[in-house]
Amino acid sequence: MAAVVLTAVVAVGWLGVMWWDSRLPGTYNVLEHGEFEHGGGSDSGDLVGHVHLSQLGESVTTLHGPPRGTPDATFALTARQATIELGSGRPVQALTFNGRSPGPELRVRQGDLVKVTLRNEDVEQGVTVHWHGVDVPNAEDGVAGVTQDAVLPGEKHVYRFRAKQVGTFWYHTHQVSSREVRRGLFGALVIEPTERDAAGLDRVVLAHTFDGLPTLDGNDAAHRLDVEPGTSARLRLVNTDNSPHRFTLTGTPFRVLAVDGTDLNEPDAIRDVAIEVAGGGRVDLGFTVPDRPVWLSLADTRAALAFNTDQAATPVAVELPTFDPADYGEPADTPFDASSPFDRRFELTISRKPGFFDGRPGLQWAINGRIFPDVPVFHVERGDLVEVAISNKTDADHPMHLHGHHVLVLSRDGKPTSGTPWWADTLNVEPGEEYRIAFRADNPGIWMDHCHNLLHAADGLTMHVAYAGVSTPFVVGGEHHNEPE
Ligand code: C2O
Ligand code: CU
Repeated sequence: MAAVVLTAVVAVGWLGVMWWDSRLPGTYNVLEHGEFEHGGGSDSGDLVGHVHLSQLGESVTTLHGPPRGTPDATFALTARQATIELGSGRPVQALTFNGRSPGPELRVRQGDLVKVTLRNEDVEQGVTVHWHGVDVPNAEDGVAGVTQDAVLPGEKHVYRFRAKQVGTFWYHTHQVSSREVRRGLFGALVIEPTERDAAGLDRVVLAHTFDGLPTLDGNDAAHRLDVEPGTSARLRLVNTDNSPHRFTLTGTPFRVLAVDGTDLNEPDAIRDVAIEVAGGGRVDLGFTVPDRPVWLSLADTRAALAFNTDQAATPVAVELPTFDPADYGEPADTPFDASSPFDRRFELTISRKPGFFDGRPGLQWAINGRIFPDVPVFHVERGDLVEVAISNKTDADHPMHLHGHHVLVLSRDGKPTSGTPWWADTLNVEPGEEYRIAFRADNPGIWMDHCHNLLHAADGLTMHVAYAGVSTPFVVGGEHHNEPE
């Protein structure tokens, strides 16, 4: 009897300690938590121990865009609460940039010096702007508590960066992002090549669910568009939701021109294939407008773009196969590949594990068997060639997003990619899948690496890639109540 009681007391006590330990402190530096991993490379930099590491090295604030020079493109984004109206007239109490959601579309040219002034009128928990998919210098990355403080009501923050890439990107707040992005604080960012293609239709299509209603560009129903037959069209699909969206383009063959802002090599014309876009991901489609109706539809919803027709989108009767970039298009040279000598190799294994997250018991997300904040920090040095094996041992999709870098997809489930080079910044890893990806550590800083199902991220599916010799003076919590997730 006494033994049973003692065992029970010990068990309860142990659970109590687990619970107590799991509570996140009100204020902490992201480098103080987590377990540094070195991926087989050197560990210079964190020999001093985690507690001090956050204070050592160059501050992220020094890793900024060009401080001087006249900007080529200047924008002002003001965050405020507003009531917006969906296409059907239904009102939504939203959080907006400039009174709209989606916020204004920012279009710039490659090479432009971009300046964006963010102001917060009345979004109580604060805002930031993260340039999703744009590999900006670390200080411009817009992560509250890591690269800046949240911009509270009445405050402002200026971002300056050179637009070096070309493609389809988006921007969104990275303060309390699981709630603020859902409520509307996002918009599209397009970087056009200096030599722009001859005039055609070039249109961003943002999928977002407002109050449970799926929309395309804020339209919850079919939206009609008249386009001259023969026009060459580029549709830039952006998924701003947490889960993958399936798009169908019916009535015309098309090419998949780009994934996550990077053009694909020699894309073949295809048809009757559904395009799945990861939460946070982008896919560009190209086609020549035929003299028949064409529909772009968001599967299982009423949202659609109807080209040259009054009819609502035809329901897609047949189960369409899903587009797969792994064997699409033609191979081309890449700066490194699966046979390159890697400086570091990491594993990133996502599983579920019973335990406590911030004082809450339950089945938690775990990375490499550990629950946030004890998740890994991948330590890299400037110039390293890094390989990461990502595997998903859960039954949910995880669109994994690394800030500040594009990753080259090497293989999936052991099978090497065989078509176009496939560069991603938001890679949807389905249940049971394993990907090998690689990137060049050429953008020093402290970078989030997280699931872009922002609810998963808020529940701990988030970690960092940290460069040796870089520190951050910002903290999660603190006076600005920074809360990146
Ligand atoms: Cu689109 Cu960390 O974000
Ligand atoms: Cu996830």
